[in-house]
Amino acid sequence: MRLIFIGPPGAGKGTQCGRITKKLNIPHISTGDMFRAAVEQGTPMGVEAQRYMTAGELVPDEVVIGLVRERLSKSDVAEGFLLDGFPRTVPQAEALQETLKELEQSLDAVALLEVPDDLIVERIVGRRTDPETGRIYHVTFDPPPIQIIPRLRHRSDDTEEAVRARLEAYHGQTAPLIPFYEELGLLRRVDGVGEVDEITERLMGALR
Ligand code: AP5
Repeated sequence: MRLIFIGPPGAGKGTQCGRITKKLNIPHISTGDMFRAAVEQGTPMGVEAQRYMTAGELVPDEVVIGLVRERLSKSDVAEGFLLDGFPRTVPQAEALQETLKELEQSLDAVALLEVPDDLIVERIVGRRTDPETGRIYHVTFDPPPIQIIPRLRHRSDDTEEAVRARLEAYHGQTAPLIPFYEELGLLRRVDGVGEVDEITERLMGALR
């Protein structure tokens, strides 16, 4: 299957992508993770992306589109993938349609994980990630085991100020993707409020 997850920052895309990709046995492509890896490695793209990420702004379209085009040309994603955090603007969505056409592929569904803004800040500020396993925790909603706490990371863009900027970018630049994919008949709306297991079930039901 070829799938996209969209939704506001902190909606639970990363959490759910980890579970859904295991169930469907397809690779998870997260542009946020790709940029964080580039930042960690200190590549020129990472240096450029970091400025935008820390401010809670979107990385310019041409940088992201080039990165995803290259990733989709790899053989491990020929039979399916789950795109997380891409596309995030209409020009990115149009570029993706073009790339898929060139590859003679098409999308199966776009899941929109809906979570109201007032729940987002609490989710984001309490997020912690395990660099060894990639597992995402929350200090209150999904507490990590005590012994791994010292190694957990808190993302530099997970501050209240950056989250407000990310929400603004979501409503201004990413929300127009909702009518874009609705018109293509691909959009599946999924309520992202509730227990993590319950949301996984809702997503699996919507994607069937
Ligand atoms: P990216 O990494 O994609 O961040 P995001 O979209 O802001 O999403 P998050 O990773 O913050 O949240 P999530 O929905 O994955 O939530 P999670 O599962 O972790 O992008 C980061 C930056 O990179 C962007 O700001 C931009 O600068 C750049 N970028 C990336 N892609 C780009 C693109 N295409 N174009 C331009 N720029 C791009 O959950 C959050 C927390 O909530 C966790 O602690 C989790 O434990 C908890 N949680 C999850 N589910 C629940 C639940 N059901 N109940 C309670 N808590 C829950």
